Amino acid sequence: MKITLEQNPAGQVAAAALIVPVLEGEKELRFGAAPLVESGEVAGKAGEFTLLHSPSGASAARVLLAGGGKAERFDAAALRTLVAASVRFLKERKVLSAGVLLEGSRASREYASAAVEGAILGDFEPDRHKTGNDKKTLNSFAVVCPRGAAGLDAAVARGQVLAEAQNFTRAMANEPPNLLTPLKMAAAARQMAQEQGLECEVLERGELERLGMGALLGVAQGSAEPPALIVIRYRPQQTASTAHLGLVGKGVTFDTGGISIKPSEGMEKMKYDMCGGAAMIGAMRAIAQLKPALTVTAFIPCVENMPGSRAQRPGDIVTAMSGKTIEVLNTDAEGRLILADALAYARRLGCTHLVDAATLTGAIVVALGHIHVGLFSNNDAMRDRVLSAAKAEGERMWPMPLDDDYKEGLKSPFADIANIGSRWGGAITAAIFLKEFAEDTPWVHLDIAGTAWLDDARPDMPKGPTGLPVRTLVRLAMEWKD
Ligand code: BES
Ligand code: MN
Ligand code: ZN
Repeated sequence: MKITLEQNPAGQVAAAALIVPVLEGEKELRFGAAPLVESGEVAGKAGEFTLLHSPSGASAARVLLAGGGKAERFDAAALRTLVAASVRFLKERKVLSAGVLLEGSRASREYASAAVEGAILGDFEPDRHKTGNDKKTLNSFAVVCPRGAAGLDAAVARGQVLAEAQNFTRAMANEPPNLLTPLKMAAAARQMAQEQGLECEVLERGELERLGMGALLGVAQGSAEPPALIVIRYRPQQTASTAHLGLVGKGVTFDTGGISIKPSEGMEKMKYDMCGGAAMIGAMRAIAQLKPALTVTAFIPCVENMPGSRAQRPGDIVTAMSGKTIEVLNTDAEGRLILADALAYARRLGCTHLVDAATLTGAIVVALGHIHVGLFSNNDAMRDRVLSAAKAEGERMWPMPLDDDYKEGLKSPFADIANIGSRWGGAITAAIFLKEFAEDTPWVHLDIAGTAWLDDARPDMPKGPTGLPVRTLVRLAMEWKD
């Protein structure tokens, strides 16, 4: 898709369709819209689309009046969603070149960036494995800012980088588990790193054994597919900071539950259990292009959780790289096991701050539904950094408790810690388990089990991976201050 910034008057845009946001209480009377506004057909309600052909006063072939809801609530995140939904609306009608009109306070860097993101995110299709030839992708998209502020070029470029990184993550997460095995995920990461000028190292089974990663290896042993620990490094050209951010992502390419096997109903969704890992790889892609002044390393432990004849059993005791012993009471609580070793390894390689993202628990879906990411932290300042980045990016996150009292539930009579607690507060006990391996390093855990995947298509997004929390991670790195 060709992305352009046009600072000419709205009337001169030569796209097949010009998207014009219409907000409640802001009457749009141009392009022949007046009678529709007068009759109440166009009211600016969110999700209301009206396509005008041969609009008056515009050289675009069509104007799409796109309702955005209340003006005071129409922030950049709302524009991103509106543009994505508009693009999907237009593509349904085979309209493949578009622009969006940004005027007044919306002719800003923030909105321009969000508009480009919306276009690229809205263009994403989960059809890589469909064989028909009716594939639709947008040819061109213009951000139209007749009297735009300075620096819009850079904002448009930033939006493109961010959205392409999110789509990269989404495409990876959509790959079926027979094709995206742990080693294939590592190969994809390596290729991305090579293209973007990042260092990438893939630790395979022998190396993981030498490092003593018994928790990760225990999960991997039930599968014929060998495990991998992906390490991707970004080093800034210049930095005054001594901080080293570690991004740790759960990369379970398929989660059957292992011997504690899951019910078959809906199990196909468990290909999404590598979404945290895919988000870290996507974030590194954007970081390589946007070049923050901060050292960032991603760690993605990749395994397939299978009930093979060599699979670990409930009751097994494994020794993690940190030296702690873990009683595996439930082989379906595998994410925390592989993350335990990856977090310890990130600390060993010198990370001073850690963020992990994982589709870790069904319990977080019970707690927060599909709207908010569950955020856990051992450090208030680190929590606030991530929360403010998330807020600025419109990726909703909710702080969850992590009191020591919850640790009681993970006591084991036979090992240092058990991998599950009681049924209640399951997302919290999972986070408490991880905290034991983050130790005293400032750390944030993001449980994205409810937010990494959209179960039913929305106007702005097809069913499938959402790309969360790539934007937050990239902003966190870009805005880092010691
Ligand atoms: N990948 C799952 C988390 C999950 C479960 C996401 C259901 C979406 C829906 C994770 O590995 C898992 O199986 N967690 C268990 C933990 C339990 C055994 C303590 C869960 O949440 O059921
Ligand atoms: Mn599981
Ligand atoms: Zn899992």
